[in-house]
Amino acid sequence: MNGTNILPGAHDFVVSGTINAARIMNIYNNIGGRVVSDVVIPLVPNPSTRFTGRTEIIAKLKEHFSANPNSGVQRRKYFLLHGMGGIGKTQICLKFIEEMSDHFSTVFWMDTSSVGTILQGLKGICLLPEAKPCMLDGSPESALHWIGSLKENYAMVFDNADVLSPAELEGYFPPGQRGNILITSRNATMQCLTSPENSLEVTEMEENEAILLLLKASCLSSSNIDLKAEASKIVKELYCLPLGVDQAGAFIASGASNIGDYLDKYLHHQGTLLSHSEFTGASKYNKSVYGTWELSYKEIQQRAGSDDFHKARAGDSALFLLALFPFLHHESISEEIFSFAATQDTETMSHPHLPLAHSVLDHKLLSLNEDGTWDNLIFKEGVRVLLSFSLIKKGTSGTVHSMHPLVNAWGRDRMTVKEKEKCSLMAFATLSASLEHNQSQSYGFRRTLVTHVRKNLQYSNNYFDDAYEKFGLLLREQGYSSEAEKLEIQKLEIQVLDARNKILGEDHPATISAKANLASTYRNLGKHTQAEKLEIQVLDARNKILGEEHPHTILAMGNLAATQKAMSQSRKVDNAKNQVHNTSDGVYVTQGMEGENMDAGVPHAGNRVQGEDDAYAVQALANLPSITNVGDRIIHSQKKGN
Ligand SMILES: Nc1ncnc2c1ncn2[C@@H]1O[C@H](COP(=O)(O)OP(=O)(O)OP(=O)(O)O)[C@@H](O)[C@H]1O
Ligand SMILES: [Mg+2]
Repeated sequence: MNGTNILPGAHDFVVSGTINAARIMNIYNNIGGRVVSDVVIPLVPNPSTRFTGRTEIIAKLKEHFSANPNSGVQRRKYFLLHGMGGIGKTQICLKFIEEMSDHFSTVFWMDTSSVGTILQGLKGICLLPEAKPCMLDGSPESALHWIGSLKENYAMVFDNADVLSPAELEGYFPPGQRGNILITSRNATMQCLTSPENSLEVTEMEENEAILLLLKASCLSSSNIDLKAEASKIVKELYCLPLGVDQAGAFIASGASNIGDYLDKYLHHQGTLLSHSEFTGASKYNKSVYGTWELSYKEIQQRAGSDDFHKARAGDSALFLLALFPFLHHESISEEIFSFAATQDTETMSHPHLPLAHSVLDHKLLSLNEDGTWDNLIFKEGVRVLLSFSLIKKGTSGTVHSMHPLVNAWGRDRMTVKEKEKCSLMAFATLSASLEHNQSQSYGFRRTLVTHVRKNLQYSNNYFDDAYEKFGLLLREQGYSSEAEKLEIQKLEIQVLDARNKILGEDHPATISAKANLASTYRNLGKHTQAEKLEIQVLDARNKILGEEHPHTILAMGNLAATQKAMSQSRKVDNAKNQVHNTSDGVYVTQGMEGENMDAGVPHAGNRVQGEDDAYAVQALANLPSITNVGDRIIHSQKKGN
């Protein structure tokens, strides 16, 4: 681990110096160092004056770094704290260093946010009083050699190592095997430098810690139960993200809001409050919540514009995913969505005159291998970049990812209205393409897809026939049965029917199928009159076009019968019991009545009627309006139709 050979060419560098050195400095940069032209004399900043909690992580660090400190053969100790921006990695490290100030002979605090800051800092180390006797030549290399030669138990902190690769960072480790190295980074792969056992992901604060921090930051008493209750609601909404909590407190302390109003303001102006430049928290962090992630965005953008082909392609792919993910649910973002979208069979797409989501699908990450499988290389590169900035998190399977809800919201809030329209449509078309019409995908996949579809529909308003039909069927199939959920299905189906009526005409089979689906939803909603009206029209049309013995016609009869049965039940007609009894035996009919899907063929009852066993047809017919009034209505409607 000797990095002195990678320094040539580097010229702008930042280091933080010893705790003692701070006393003689008079010009400070924003992390607490002294700037002398391109040199920054490194200082260890203080932790936030309202530092709160994190005792377990600090205890773990203490245990790790204090084991066998005086052993003659002590090997260098390493540790990595990784996690998303604003989660508190640097603060934990600062608190740890403060509490362990007697343990380390010297602490070198390196701002590792760029090669420039590292080089400035290393040069600054040459100016430290402790280094003077060694006559260093002022170069970064000489600083590293000097540190490497120290016999004492020094610590070197590489803070905010977010942009450098692990190999690049390793190049700045001092030679030799003494001392202690602590890294903070958004990039979990830095653990290849420290080993996974010597790494820890920093996650959100405990709720009680977050409440305490909010009250401290708001300058309010932490012993008042009512204030604690208000604070609890706020920190939950902020997912106990320390940066967000600290900033909310600063906002309240400024008098811009009181603790009781804050939540209401936040819910209406989330984007504004999370990007407010005046409330960037205590300490010298200097970035708003959104500003934190914006930094990562800018770095990815820079990579996308790089001359290095591979770097540019990975950056480009990451930007694409960052545009799309905010319009999906923040959890369970499965790679299957993309693999299904890439390999969908477009042959089955019908109705070319209708607006189709499939025709606006962006194929950027959907290319295929020669054998027709999805080529996920570029997708994976983008995912890798997002993971390295902790903008997404890897799930246990490695092919399912999640995004912190606030990052998900930031992804949308940073867009203009036009960008939002474009990106929500991209996500919409991808979801639609990933959903197969014939329900052959696993239940689990389709179940997760529902959450994404419902989230996406909050932002996408344009009508696309294939998507709306599939989404409607998906929601229905997944048993969305509350009143509100059924109304969601109804909304989709009304639009499908309207569009098909206008574009394909009333008699088109796809229009009739849409009518049947909507009728079934009306029936589920208890809107029997509306359901019956449509079902009579469906039956009329099918009688006319397909003939009365066609399975689709029989199915339509069954559906009408079911509606009329439900009507008579609700009217408590005398013979209702018998009718219920009749249909409850007819399992096939009941299942077949749950909507229709033209392209998937006739649902259960129809399939059976058409295929293997004609007895089912007889059974279905027998279970239909055994009852004359239904038959009468059918005949009546047929007469009217003629
Ligand atoms: N334990 C804490 N107590 C009080 N405030 C905290 C704590 N942790 C974080 N904060 C607040 O959140 C801000 C951001 O924390 P910190 O700089 O540690 O985040 P980070 O994880 O290092 O982020 P980045 O990846 O951007 O470097 C701090 O400046 C401080 O205002
Ligand atoms: Mg940090």
